[in-house]
Amino acid sequence: MANVTLKNLTKTYPGQVTAVDNLSLEIADGEFLVLVGPSGCGKSTALKMIAGLEPITAGEVLIADEVVNEYASRDRDIAMVFQSYALYPHMSVFDNIAFSLQIAKVPKAEITRRVGEVARILQLEDYLRRKPGNLSGGQRQRVAMGRAIIRQPSVFLMDEPLSNLDAKLRVQMRSEIAQIQRRVKVTTIYVTHDQVEAMTMGDRVALMKDGVLQQVDTPDNIYNRPANTFVASFIGSPSMNLYRARLEGEVASCTLVLGGNRLAIPASVFADRAELAAKIGADIIVGLRPEDLEDAALLPTHPADQRLAAHVILNESLGSDHMVHFPIDAPLAKVSDQDSLDEIVVAEGVCIGRFGARSLVKAGQSIEVAVACDRLHFFDAATGLAI
Ligand SMILES: Nc1ncnc2c1ncn2[C@@H]1O[C@H](COP(=O)(O)OP(=O)(O)OP(=O)(O)O)[C@@H](O)[C@H]1O
Ligand SMILES: [Mg+2]
Repeated sequence: MANVTLKNLTKTYPGQVTAVDNLSLEIADGEFLVLVGPSGCGKSTALKMIAGLEPITAGEVLIADEVVNEYASRDRDIAMVFQSYALYPHMSVFDNIAFSLQIAKVPKAEITRRVGEVARILQLEDYLRRKPGNLSGGQRQRVAMGRAIIRQPSVFLMDEPLSNLDAKLRVQMRSEIAQIQRRVKVTTIYVTHDQVEAMTMGDRVALMKDGVLQQVDTPDNIYNRPANTFVASFIGSPSMNLYRARLEGEVASCTLVLGGNRLAIPASVFADRAELAAKIGADIIVGLRPEDLEDAALLPTHPADQRLAAHVILNESLGSDHMVHFPIDAPLAKVSDQDSLDEIVVAEGVCIGRFGARSLVKAGQSIEVAVACDRLHFFDAATGLAI
């Protein structure tokens, strides 16, 4: 087992595409780090440089505190699981898992013992004699994991290993992989463009955009304290609603002017945001998570000065809750590259609230929306950085 350190790692492909730009990260021994970001942001390139499959333009990769830039892939003590996990079709599951040990001339008895142990961890004991063609997608994925685990590497590198699976199996496998990693405790770097995988699997999440690291933190902190508008809009589904707005008044009695709406901002909001008071009077970007908006009819005691007047244009009922769409007449804060996200594209100015199951609102109705004003997010209007 080993820690992994990236120091100012940079990759410029021929033609001057800087795919990874000055990436620095420290991944602790035994940690599960998820590298996430939109398509083309440089995730696979970063992983390939760690794996030794792509030459490094500048910077260093350290495994167990040793610079490995000049080491061949096979000398880095890593195991990889990729999206296409080509198994040997003519070999049994046992032989597929055992292959690297057989090549290394490990004694037969030890191979049998280690394959048995890996098969138990991966719940493949009943399938060891089968050929890959006679397995389900999830079982094949587990065989690919088994091939990686059996080598007892210092580091696992995984690049979208679940993207070939159907939605249900993906959900099942993502919890299995996370549990297996916690059992074997091998340092893991896991690449995905799926923010749900990132949030549910990682000890920490590193979010990239255009080759540049945006934030690295625990899933909770990434969600609750996004460093900028890009992180805020990438993590969470539906996305955080972002608008240009203005704060008026003073800390003790502050009002957020959001288009034609005025919302009272509790003084507590300023307590843990030292820079916010200085922004009173200036344009800012405000972020509202869908779950911080509620049908006011369900919250009769919600303060009158923390409500928006809204006209519902769409209610997507999911049974457990409702995604209610309503326009707000404030300018949307556009996040660059937003169109490359796998998000539902909403009409400009439309806000989405996640209302409780008991809400009865319908398209065409004028309603009041209760806003959890103590849970708003604030960003600098010029830089997009969190305040
Ligand atoms: N061999 C290459 N030559 C030139 N440019 C490349 C090469 N491989 C990748 N790129 C470019 O580098 C950038 C990053 O690519 P990379 O494959 O690392 O992205 P990614 O984050 O893994 O995307 P995805 O989620 O689609 O897999 C992209 O702009 C891509 O076009
Ligand atoms: Mg990729």
